[in-house]
Amino acid sequence: MNGYDLRTMGSPKPRVFSGIQPSGGLHLGNYLGAIRNWVRDQDKYDNIFCVVDLHAMTLPWDPKLLRENTLQVAAVYLACGIRQDTSTIFVQSRIPAHSELAWILTCLTPMGWLERMTQFKEKSAGEQRERVGTGLLTYPALMAADILLYETNFVPVGEDQRQHIEYTRDIAQRVNQRFGQVLTLPEALIPKAGARIMGLDDPERKMSKTLAQANPGHAVFLTDPPEVIRKKFARAQTDAEPAVRFPPGPGVANLLQIYQSVTETTAENLERTFAGKSYNELKQAVAEAVIAALRPIQERYREIRSDDAQLVRDLDRAADRLAVTANATLARVQRVTGLLGHD
Ligand code: TRP
Repeated sequence: MNGYDLRTMGSPKPRVFSGIQPSGGLHLGNYLGAIRNWVRDQDKYDNIFCVVDLHAMTLPWDPKLLRENTLQVAAVYLACGIRQDTSTIFVQSRIPAHSELAWILTCLTPMGWLERMTQFKEKSAGEQRERVGTGLLTYPALMAADILLYETNFVPVGEDQRQHIEYTRDIAQRVNQRFGQVLTLPEALIPKAGARIMGLDDPERKMSKTLAQANPGHAVFLTDPPEVIRKKFARAQTDAEPAVRFPPGPGVANLLQIYQSVTETTAENLERTFAGKSYNELKQAVAEAVIAALRPIQERYREIRSDDAQLVRDLDRAADRLAVTANATLARVQRVTGLLGHD
């Protein structure tokens, strides 16, 4: 028996599960808004961090890029400081139970619930129905399966995922009511004021992997070299004032938020440092602060990616361990729903 199983047996720590889609390079928003919090809180929980590659298939994808981004997300988790003694990192598709439970949940989910989901409506807006894959609609059932397989207590996510967690609770409750208590209801863990990093090209929109694909100037990728980071900040959108003013407009506010979050300075300090400064000075200061914060992460990242075979072996080993829990939950659901072979 391995350390993981020993820890979960009667473990007093609540279980945390979260995931990131390998649908593009990870950026500063992913780090400051999510991964950094997971790293900070990891000792309080028994954590599982997943690379949700099957979710990345809900929009058109390139096979080579999917593979590369999958390794990248896993390596970034590690490089940012997720530790293997308190957390487990794995790739979703390596555990078939995710797809199998997702199917059962899909069959139990009224179509109306899925059609009303904000994320589905946004991501399918403007596309002709003939061009949107069905997976985009059933996406929440796969996400619910991810969470429910591991008897998860808390799911640290951004505000945009709240509706999916609500759905996860609803579908788990439906299974429990119809077939018997077999699933644990999770709760969303959403940072109250957390760093919400906006696009450098458009401070009205949250920094996103999808928008960065269309315009690389939208986001600072965690793997960007210093000169690229400087260039991206130099071109970042500011406001129509002659210099930095408080309270700032949206463009400057985003730059200040990034600076504050990477340097972990106070709001007063921020105002003292930048009030009256030129946009150029602000942009340079932010760029250097980001470069300094990313340096150790980038060094570890390069080290991890210098041996992909080892990384893949580690991920597979983690999946083998987790599959024990996932398969046990799946077997319970299969048994109560009348599928053969689990008595
Ligand atoms: N839908 C999440 C996102 O886009 C990713 C995700 C998939 C996830 N499965 C999950 C997050 C399970 C938390 C738990 O951000």
